[in-house]
Parts: sequence; structure tokens; C-alpha cells
Amino acid sequence: MKRYILLTLVLTVIVIGPFAYQKWSEAKRLQHIRETKQLASQIQATPLTDYLHQLKQVSPDGTPLLLFTGNTHAQLEPCGCFIGQSGGLPRRAKAIARIRETGFSPLLVDLGGIQPSQHPSMKPHSFESDNLSTENEVHSRDQHRVQTTLTAMKMMGYDALFPFDAETEIVQNREVDVSFTLLGSELANDSDSYLIKTVNEKRIGVVALSINDTTEIASFSDRLNSLLSAVRAQSDFVVVLSHALPEVNRALAEKYPNLSAILSPYEGETEKVGDVLLAYCNAKGKTLGALILTDTEVDIQQIALTEQVSDDLEVRKLLDDFYHQVATDHQLQIVSHRLFSSEPFEQDETNSYIGSQACQECHQKEFSQWSHSSHATAFNTLRTIGREHYPECITCHVTGSGYESGYEIGNTERAHLVDVGCETCHGPGKQHVYTPLKENTRGQVPEKVCMACHTPEHSPGFDALVEQVMPEVDHSRSELSLKQILEQRMRGPMKPEIELFVMSYCPYGVQAEQELLPFFETYRDTIDFKLRFIVGREEVSEEKTSEQVKFTSLHGEPELIENKRQMVIAELYPDKLFDYLLCRADHLQEAWVNCAKEIELDVARIAQAVESEKLALELVKEIQRTKELNIKGSPTLVIDGRIIDGGLWRGKVKETCR
Ligand code: HEC
Ligand code: HEC
Ligand code: HEC
Ligand code: HEC
Repeated sequence: MKRYILLTLVLTVIVIGPFAYQKWSEAKRLQHIRETKQLASQIQATPLTDYLHQLKQVSPDGTPLLLFTGNTHAQLEPCGCFIGQSGGLPRRAKAIARIRETGFSPLLVDLGGIQPSQHPSMKPHSFESDNLSTENEVHSRDQHRVQTTLTAMKMMGYDALFPFDAETEIVQNREVDVSFTLLGSELANDSDSYLIKTVNEKRIGVVALSINDTTEIASFSDRLNSLLSAVRAQSDFVVVLSHALPEVNRALAEKYPNLSAILSPYEGETEKVGDVLLAYCNAKGKTLGALILTDTEVDIQQIALTEQVSDDLEVRKLLDDFYHQVATDHQLQIVSHRLFSSEPFEQDETNSYIGSQACQECHQKEFSQWSHSSHATAFNTLRTIGREHYPECITCHVTGSGYESGYEIGNTERAHLVDVGCETCHGPGKQHVYTPLKENTRGQVPEKVCMACHTPEHSPGFDALVEQVMPEVDHSRSELSLKQILEQRMRGPMKPEIELFVMSYCPYGVQAEQELLPFFETYRDTIDFKLRFIVGREEVSEEKTSEQVKFTSLHGEPELIENKRQMVIAELYPDKLFDYLLCRADHLQEAWVNCAKEIELDVARIAQAVESEKLALELVKEIQRTKELNIKGSPTLVIDGRIIDGGLWRGKVKETCR
């Protein structure tokens, strides 16, 4: 008897063991990915709420506060590529406003470096192709960014900007009328190199130390001597804004122990030389530096500008206007750099990009795997947040940007090159499609191909994760379940958008609702669910006004009305939509009011809304969306703009209404 039990036990372990192990190791892998990403994206800075709390413990009277930024490179805001990103003009403006609300009226300075940083592959020799811009054209979008930055700084109430020598010209030729002081010896004489301001009842002298052409400490020292002689007598505290290298700053701190602080636009670790504080900036406006000066001590902190800080609405609008301008002006859409400039396949001018669709016929398995990955929805991401015309974003979210035959903003003939398609990893595919050989495609995809896009700026921690995530893209895994696909999408900052296309009287559509809604219910707060309807329109006249459109539906007028009803309920009672749909699924042949009453909806209100004019426009939108995605049958499931293979989710739903 014992032997049988033992045998059964051993057999069970043999049968279930591998599955259990697989599940366990997959869970571990995912956890490791999550933790590594989280750790890598952390920023060393104080959350704004904590900082405000600290300020509340201090009396603003007689306690001057100085806020500073530097090397912002006209970064308008972070890209939003990962969770926990910090920075952005709208958040900076909000943080400053919140600090002012505490009663402090800070001195606000920028230490220069407001021009966009030059990308390494933007050097002139890489501009040979017609598709790429000349330096001048890049310059014009950068110019706009600088102007937008200056305008935002004016809105925030900056007191001073100390531009680098190399950017005095761009600042002097600015189009916006700034209200803040421009500091710097290049601008004019000594009196333009300092600023004295009373801040919370104390006088702060801010001295601007340029690099000029020298790195000799003696000449910095001479310069500082003459400036300090003018400033010291009139100030309670003196702070130096220095463009010099850290070692020069250290030497100056030793020589002038009475300074309160020396601020540098570069990145570095805060340090103290005697009583003089040396502080640095986080590039690209990731944080806001904050310096509190008292007679006995200085307190320096970097304030985090993560998503916990909301946007200042006026600065938000300024940025939206900028993006709108880029979206409508072809000249501003020119791409400034391209990926893979050292990969031979991409440089072969006799080859060209052809699009992922062309590969499907012969590589169905790889295509299906890819189309469920987030690479296949990378452009949808940009569309969702309205950046599909912004060149700074498309480089890594499309295929072949910057190449002669690659994706081009606004060119409808290149629409098939959206997303991170097959050819981003395997190289341009035209020759291979016509003559399939191993030699004319990149069969081995080296890590450095991934790293071209998964840079620390956009995908922190990825370098340590390549091996763990490779199975997600190398087509080696068996097909994912719907749950796995959803959970993969939820790793990023964006909520996955689910669209279920049905006809409300189509029995298979209704079955799909029964199959899927309870599942989606468990993800309520982490997904964006939309029920969509497949309707038609009769082309009675050429007129496009909505009153003249006659809508049609496969199951006739009653279906059209039920569609409208469900649209109304989705709008008026979003939390009860699933309850209504599931109730209707069981009682489709009965009167709708029974279900409405059962879940306590206002029947009269719904009936009235169904008659509204506005609903016709909504139906037009449904038609547009089904056309856009080329959707024919009910039910169809779409995640982030991509149709999900029925095999993955249909379950008992065997048929389709067409
Ligand atoms: C007409 C059919 C066909 C089309 C279309 C096609 N391929 Fe292939 N592909 C093949 C064949 C056949 C092979 C195997 C070649 C061999 O082993 O010599 C192959 C091999 C490959 C390999 C593996 C190479 C290696 O070194 O093992 C990759 C990667 C690849 N294709 C990518 C693509 C991409 C990307 C596209 C679309 C741009 C595409 N293929 C379109 C037929 C096709
Ligand atoms: C052309 C740029 C580009 C290349 C090359 C690239 N990726 Fe990506 N990758 C992206 C973008 C963009 C996203 C985010 C797409 C979205 O959700 O909008 C992404 C997303 C991912 C994700 C999902 C991230 C997550 O945690 O949700 C993984 C995993 C991934 N890439 C792995 C790879 C690997 C491995 C390689 C190399 C074999 C690679 N990628 C090459 C641009 C690229
Ligand atoms: C250098 C390449 C690169 C550029 C340029 C880039 N991205 Fe990304 N983006 C990525 C990668 C890689 C990911 C995936 C990151 C990850 O999960 O590790 C990503 C992810 C995203 C996501 C998250 C998608 C999701 O599913 O949650 C958003 C949103 C996004 N990018 C928006 C933008 C915007 C807006 C811009 C332009 C301002 C931009 N990206 C520019 C590479 C890039
Ligand atoms: C994010 C990068 C990436 C994208 C996008 C991508 N692949 Fe791959 N592909 C790989 C990697 C990695 C391998 C494995 C290469 C190796 O073994 O070194 C691979 C292997 C292949 C192979 C060789 C056979 C196999 O299955 O291992 C084919 C064929 C292929 N890919 C076709 C495609 C097609 C078709 C698409 C688009 C539908 C595509 N790939 C999109 C990264 C990618």
C-alpha cells in the first residue's frame, strides 16, 4: 500500500513538476524585471510634498530661499517612456508655485545650458541622405524649443539666466521678451555679472563667473575679486554661479571661505569645502535645486518632479501649442538623427524598407508572436498621447526613421512602417522578400541593436535585463495567453486600451461579452476598456452632415437602437456597463428596461439620451474606427490598436457575425 502511495507521489511530481517549475521561474523572471527597472529609474531627490512639509517648519522671515536649474538643454518634459520619470517645465512651474504658497518668495536662477544637447550622430557628415536635415533645419526646431523654454521661464518668474558664452547669441536674438536679468561677462560689463536681490528680508548677491578662454585659477580669482568688491558690501549672502570646472570651484572655495555657495550647472555630488557649499544640477531639468541660507547653515536639496507633481496648466498649454506648431509645420518635422548608423544592412543603399506585413506570408509564427508584443503598438503609444508628429519621439517608435526608404512623418505612403517592425531588428527587408536568403537579412540580432533604443534615458536598467527579456522578442516562446499579453502591457506607464467590437444583437458578440467581461472586470483600474459597435451607413447623399446620414446594422433597427443605448449607458453609468451587458446577454429577447431596472438605471434618462443628436456623431466615430482598423466581424478584440488573434481568447465563441 505504502509503495503505491509513494509511486503516485513520484508520478505526480514527474508530471506536474516541470509545469510548476516553469510557472515559478516565470514569476521570478517577471519580478526580477520589475524590480530592476524600478531600481534603475529611481532618482535621488526629495519628493515635493516632503519638501513643502519641511518648509512649513521654517519661518520665511529672514530665511532666503534660492531655487536653481542648469543644463536643462531645452528639454520641455520627460518622454514618458517609463514609470517614475522626473522633470518637465509644467511640473517645475507647479512646484515653484506650491513653494511660493508657503510664504517663501524664492530667488529663481538658471545657470545656463539651455540649448538642446547635440546628439552624437547629428554631426554634419551623417547628413548625406536627402531625408536627413541640414544643420540649419534642425536648428529651427531647436530654436523653437529654446524660445518655448524662455517663455516658460518668464511665466515662472525667473529672476536671472546666466547663459553659457556659446549661447549668448541665441539668447540675445530671442524672439520672446524676457523679464529676467541676463547675467554674464559676454553680455556687457561687470554690472551685468551680478545681481543683488532682497529675498525674505535678506540681501543675496549672485555673482556670475564665466569661463572665458582660460582655465587658470589665477584669472578666475582676479575676476571674482573685482566682482566681490562690488557685491560684498551690499549683500548678507554671496552665491557664485560658476561655469568653471569643479576643481576650479573647489580652489575658489578655499580662497574665498566667506562665500555661501558655489553653484555649477554640471552634474555632481554636493560637497563642502570649509564652509562653502558646492552644489550641482541634474541635467535636462530633471529636478529643481533648492538652497536655503541662514547665518548658521546652508541646506541644499534637489526636488523631484515626478508624476506626483501635477502640471501647471498655463505652461502645459504653452507646450501643447509648441507640439501643435510642429505637427502643422512640415519644416519643423525633419528628423535630426537616425539609428543603426554603424550597421551594414542599414547603410546598403540598394536595399529598402518594405514593412512587417510583407514578412507575414512566409514567417507566420514570428509575425503572430511579434504582433502581440509591445513593439507592434509602439506608434499607437505616440498617437494616444498626441506625439505622432514629433520627430524627437518617432526615431525609436517607428521603423527606419531617417533613412531614404524609412518612415517619414506625414507621408501616407509610409504608414506601413509605423511601430518597431521586423526590419528594425533584422534590417531593411526588400531584397530578402524577393530573394529569401540568410545572407540578406540580419539573422543574429546583437544586443547593441536593442540598446540603440533601450538607452538609459528611455529604458533604464535594460542593459542588465537584455538576457531576461530576450525570450519576449526572439520568437522562441509559445503563444501567450490573453492574461499574459495584458500583464506585459501593464509593465509600462500607459494603461492598455482594450476595444471590443460587437453588434449588440450578434449572438457571438454577446457570447464574447460573457466570456471576456468578467475577466476584464478584474483589471478595471489598470486598463482602459471601450465597447465599440460595428455599424454601417447608407450613402444616400454626398452631404456629410450627421442628420442626413442613415445608419444601418446587420440585425436591423432594433440593434441600432440597442447599440445606442449601450453607448449611452457607457457614458452615463460607466461603472454599471458590465452589469447591464451581462444582464442583457441572458435576456436579449426581453425588454431592455427589465435589465435597466434590475441594476437601478434611470430608464427615462437613458431613453431620452438615445434620441440625442450628439449620438449620431458618436456613431460616425464608430464607423471611422472600424474602417481604420479594417474590422469586419463581431466579435473582434483589439488591444492598443492591434487586433488580437481570436485563437487566444475566443474560448466557446466559435462564429462571427459579418
Ligand atoms: C517569400 C518568403 C519570405 C519572405 C516574404 C520573408 N522571408 Fe525571411 N526567410 C525566408 C526563407 C526561405 C528563409 C530561410 C533562408 C535560408 O535558410 O537560406 C528566411 C530566413 C529569415 C531569417 C533567418 C535568417 C537566418 O540567418 O537564419 C530572418 C531573420 C528573416 N527571414 C526575416 C525576414 C523578414 C524580417 C522578412 C520581412 C521583411 C522576411 N524574412 C520575409 C523566406 C521569406
Ligand atoms: C527601434 C527601437 C527599438 C529597438 C531596436 C528595440 N526596441 Fe524594444 N522597445 C522599443 C519601444 C519604443 C518599446 C515600447 C513600445 C510601447 O509600448 O510603446 C519597446 C519595448 C520593449 C519591451 C517591453 C518593455 C516592457 O517592459 O514593457 C521589451 C521586452 C523590449 N522592447 C525588448 C527589446 C529587445 C530584447 C530588443 C533587441 C532584440 C529590442 N527591444 C529592440 C523600441 C525598440
Ligand atoms: C531612444 C529611443 C526612444 C525615443 C527617442 C523615445 N522613446 Fe518612448 N520608449 C522607448 C523605449 C525603449 C520604451 C520602452 C521602455 C521600457 O519599458 O523599458 C519606450 C516607451 C514609451 C512609452 C511607454 C509605453 C507603454 O506601453 O507604457 C511612452 C508613453 C513613450 N515611450 C513615449 C515617448 C515619447 C512621447 C517620446 C518623445 C518625446 C519618446 N517616447 C521617445 C524608446 C524611445
Ligand atoms: C525586437 C527585435 C525583433 C523584432 C522586432 C523581430 N525580430 Fe525576428 N528575431 C529577433 C531575435 C532576437 C531573433 C533570434 C536571433 C538569434 O537567434 O540570434 C529573431 C529571429 C528571427 C527569425 C529566425 C527564426 C526564428 O524564429 O528564430 C525569423 C525568421 C524572424 N526573426 C523573423 C521576424 C519577423 C518576420 C518579424 C516581424 C514580424 C521579426 N522577426 C521581428 C528579434 C526580432
